[in-house]
Amino acid sequence: MSILNFGSCCIDNVYAVPHFAQPGETLPCYSYEVHPGGKGLNQSIALAASGAAVRHAGRVGTDGQWLVDLLREHKVDTSFIQIGDGPSGHANIQVTPEGENSIVLFGGANQNITPEDVDLVINSATEGEFLLVQNETSSLSYLIEQAAKKGLRIVFNAAPMTSTVNSLPLSSIELLIINETEGAELTGRTAPEEITDTLLSNYQELKVLLTLGAEGALFADSGNRIKQPALQVNAIDTTGAGDTFTGFFLAHYSRDHSIEDCLKVATKAASICVTRKGAATSIPELSELG
Ligand code: RIB
Repeated sequence: MSILNFGSCCIDNVYAVPHFAQPGETLPCYSYEVHPGGKGLNQSIALAASGAAVRHAGRVGTDGQWLVDLLREHKVDTSFIQIGDGPSGHANIQVTPEGENSIVLFGGANQNITPEDVDLVINSATEGEFLLVQNETSSLSYLIEQAAKKGLRIVFNAAPMTSTVNSLPLSSIELLIINETEGAELTGRTAPEEITDTLLSNYQELKVLLTLGAEGALFADSGNRIKQPALQVNAIDTTGAGDTFTGFFLAHYSRDHSIEDCLKVATKAASICVTRKGAATSIPELSELG
């Protein structure tokens, strides 16, 4: 069965900088490159690279045909991506010599998704199909409600974190994927185990996948708490590492691999991603994982 990803597509303007621009500072950069991105697009490419059949739904603007073409090149079904007026979403990304990033996001077409768009896509879905969503598109609450009514298995990557996440129907989510910062904002806790415990006490059926950067990842549900250490690599650009992790984890989870296996393969894929520049362009193929 295919995985339906109703997600964002962005044009990433990437600036290599000596350090993040400070308030009031005008900062010359070392280089400027344009890359494909958006958490949705990155995750669709990671899912496909990991062997999943993927349908991507969403919107791009008049400047976004190349993003759709790229998804197609990666064997993603793009029948439910609409090309509308106005600009695509874009991100202005500063990357430091240490590989850290800082991102300003403009929603563009990703924020023009309407309840009618949602109905069209959900009507095409099959009960039991996985639906992956991130927090970069509009009509998200409605999408989750309709997907739950249809009996889809909903996976939510609550990134980027905004105040609206708390008002989403999170009780309909099967698997919540967050990083430490997002987990802290959602729960008011900072220790990884406290973040997952707090979420599980609010949502007993939930499975939580908490990514911890250089500390690895923690999976927790009502019966398990499974830790995965990170692999030590020389990172040059961490952009897209979380998306790579999400795509590889979900592709294996959807095929009923053990959580331990899902964590291992996702960690390996993310560790390769951070050694390359860009987001979508840095996602490895499954065959590269060894
Ligand atoms: O997760 C990385 C992505 O976040 C970038 O590709 C950028 O487009 C933003 O959405």
